[in-house]
Amino acid sequence: MGFRDEIERRRTFGIISHPDAGKTTLTEKLLLFGGAIQEAGAVKNNKIKKSATSDFMEIEKQRGISVATSVLAFIYRDKKINILDTPGHKDFAEDTFRTLTAVDSVIVVVDVAKGVEEQTEKLVEVCRMRNIPMIVFINKLDREGKDAFDLLDEVEQKLGLSVTPLSFPIGMGYDFKGIYNIYEKNINLFSGDSKKNIEDTIAFDDINSPQLEEFIGEKAANELRENLELVNGVYPPFSTEDYLKGTQQPVFFGSALNNFGVRELLDCFIDIAPSPRAKMAEERLVQADEKNLTGFVFKIHANMDPKHRDRLAFIKIVSGTFERNKPYLHVRQNKKLKFSSPNAFFAEKKEIVDISYPGDIVGLHDTGNFKIGDTLTEGELLHYKGIPNFSPEHFRYINNADPMKAKQLYKGIDQLMDEGVAQLFTLEMNNRKVIGTVGALQFEVIQYRLEHEYGAKCTYENFPVYKACWVDPQDNNSEEFKEFKRVKQKFLAMDKRKQLVFLADSQFSLQMTQQKYPNVKLHFTSEFD
Ligand code: G4P
Repeated sequence: MGFRDEIERRRTFGIISHPDAGKTTLTEKLLLFGGAIQEAGAVKNNKIKKSATSDFMEIEKQRGISVATSVLAFIYRDKKINILDTPGHKDFAEDTFRTLTAVDSVIVVVDVAKGVEEQTEKLVEVCRMRNIPMIVFINKLDREGKDAFDLLDEVEQKLGLSVTPLSFPIGMGYDFKGIYNIYEKNINLFSGDSKKNIEDTIAFDDINSPQLEEFIGEKAANELRENLELVNGVYPPFSTEDYLKGTQQPVFFGSALNNFGVRELLDCFIDIAPSPRAKMAEERLVQADEKNLTGFVFKIHANMDPKHRDRLAFIKIVSGTFERNKPYLHVRQNKKLKFSSPNAFFAEKKEIVDISYPGDIVGLHDTGNFKIGDTLTEGELLHYKGIPNFSPEHFRYINNADPMKAKQLYKGIDQLMDEGVAQLFTLEMNNRKVIGTVGALQFEVIQYRLEHEYGAKCTYENFPVYKACWVDPQDNNSEEFKEFKRVKQKFLAMDKRKQLVFLADSQFSLQMTQQKYPNVKLHFTSEFD
């Protein structure tokens, strides 16, 4: 198979949802279709359980397990599918944001009863910002839930999407009869038998055929015809082009638990989802089919064994091929590195591979060379656009609790920040260090890891911050900016990239500041033009 064919057959994507919407179940069913796993339950272990929220050791252990399943790859209809695992747990949302920089498309799972939930809103917003093609899967149709049209409205309004249904449910919950597949023009009747791997479908080009009554009864048949008419009237026809541009999102309905509607989703996904896309570097647009390797680090996973401080850096290949033992340029460090045992990921295991293609993820053993966002090339000085930081939700001063171990502490903090565990801010006024995290849990994780991996001790002190905003002065020399800096000095800090950050202590003070200094722009992510 040629280089271009290898690229064309790859589909690298992520599944995002609010916890409990069914992401794990859906992932598992997709793997079953690919023959990558033999039984349900195999992926489940990977999930960070709700019950573990107060037990961070348990979470770390589970994160350990999740190394192997960070990328789940399988072949389906000759396509190489890479699912990048995104932790649903809200405390690890940063991990998910970063993983989204490495996907070429996304499937959004929504619970039919709960509708659009908070975590989904946040994640979809990131995808929208990046024009990532999205397919929506409305799950748990075997349960009583919201009306399909109401849900489609909710998805449009809350997620800011322009949807068009490609399948439509026939009944719901107790009355759930099946799904009409608008994309393939057939009907799939629900039997409630989760053991069945592939359901029987009945071709139905003409929805007006009296046969429909035979299968689903008169009432449901009439209702379906009415609903489809409404779909035709209200929603635009599906356009692959719009989907790929990120301006239209097809919607499927199903029940992951019962393996219902999943094959339809997968088959359509294979057809329409993009193969690896060109990616913007600071210098230029890089096409996937360029000969030379380029790739970037989107995730770093710490080794679970404290005696070995090596880590696994996950590289998304953007262009060219990644070959074992070939020297590549680590652009930020301006140094050539060779990798003798790059890992590729399969359903539940990783293996050393000789060659990987655009869209693939390679895991590289690292002793501290890599940071999230680092670029590898064959010599070109390219920098993939940074992975944005988002405002953390929790902030605390971090203090050194053992003066003899200051060096270890700072090294530990530095490396944990490179891994993306949390964000570090240094206050302008007094150089004190503030850690910002997405979830309160990370503080415990950091404290534990500093002690066990670096031999350093820390304590925390509360620091009330409502939001961190990245400051874009527009004009560094303006009087307005000078005054802003003077008046707000107490609230200003530098992030790790030496970007100026305003730590607003309340929503009110943020609004007042924005009003008072309209030309000093405050951004909620670190990435802005
Ligand atoms: P997540 O990864 O998005 O957090 O969700 P996950 O797949 O773990 O699913 C959350 C719960 O929803 C699970 O139940 C799962 O069995 C259930 N579920 C997933 N898809 C469907 C569906 O199509 N229909 C119905 N009725 N339920 C579904 P649980 O009780 O929390 O876990 P478990 O004890 O079954 O493992």
